[in-house]
Amino acid sequence: MKVLNMGSLNLDYVYQVDHILTGGETLASGGMEVFPGGKGLNQSIALAKAGVPVYHAGLIGEEGQMLLDICGGSGVDTRYIRRIPGNSGHTIIQVDRQAQNCILLYGGSNRAFTREYIDEVLEGFEAGDVLLLQNEINLVDYAVEKGWERGMKVVLNPSPMDDKLDAVDMKKVSLFLLNEVEGAQIAGTEDPDRILEQMAEKFPDAEVVLTLGSRGSVYQGGGRQVRQKAYRVQAVDTTAAGDTFTGYFIAGMLQGMEVSRILDMASRASALAVSRKGAAPSIPRMEEVLAARL
Ligand code: RIB
Repeated sequence: MKVLNMGSLNLDYVYQVDHILTGGETLASGGMEVFPGGKGLNQSIALAKAGVPVYHAGLIGEEGQMLLDICGGSGVDTRYIRRIPGNSGHTIIQVDRQAQNCILLYGGSNRAFTREYIDEVLEGFEAGDVLLLQNEINLVDYAVEKGWERGMKVVLNPSPMDDKLDAVDMKKVSLFLLNEVEGAQIAGTEDPDRILEQMAEKFPDAEVVLTLGSRGSVYQGGGRQVRQKAYRVQAVDTTAAGDTFTGYFIAGMLQGMEVSRILDMASRASALAVSRKGAAPSIPRMEEVLAARL
């Protein structure tokens, strides 16, 4: 069984600010650093650091070498990553004194997926393999369709939520990993318990992991729910915390661990990511997760 993550790779330009800018305001930043990121890249790195071999498919632009390097250096299989003319995806991220962030996303090469490229990558995979997707690339609907037709298990992190996802046939998704905002959009209600009820009604065969920020997370599947608390740490930068959780959760499932243990491990990994700067570089290795005293 192989894992393919078809997803974004971004250069994150991270600015330290006193407070998040408001409309019309000009503010001097306290510093700027460039980190490798992107929901796709972060989740591949989390999977690899959790000990699961993963193939990443994605598109980088001319200045995207850093993105390729960190994938390769973290043990992600990069054979399907292609470099194309033009700019890589990038973000402008403000991080304030309370470690809150806000993210402006430029799609760049992440939005240049073609049906031909997706078909070509999927050729290397077969029934029973896992296809992981987020919503920072174009043609997510096509990838879901084609992965499902091939018999792959489709895992969707519908983030960031936007109306492109309306085109996705979510009935073909086996596992959803989503937060409250995304859950509310898909389920049409803001109450977490109602979100889970609605998800079970709409997608009775799918498993769901709903993350609730400081209130932890809930797994729902096979007619049961398992709840997990969030670990509290001194927050430095919350970027990639959700991606770390997603990667570690999928890794635990593929490693055949018990759900309560998987949730606990994913929460610990995510807490460690919050306590460090940047996106991909903040994702801990499994040894660090196991050794952490939280
Ligand atoms: O989920 C965090 C990621 O979202 C960042 O690395 C940034 O690139 C944005 O895509």
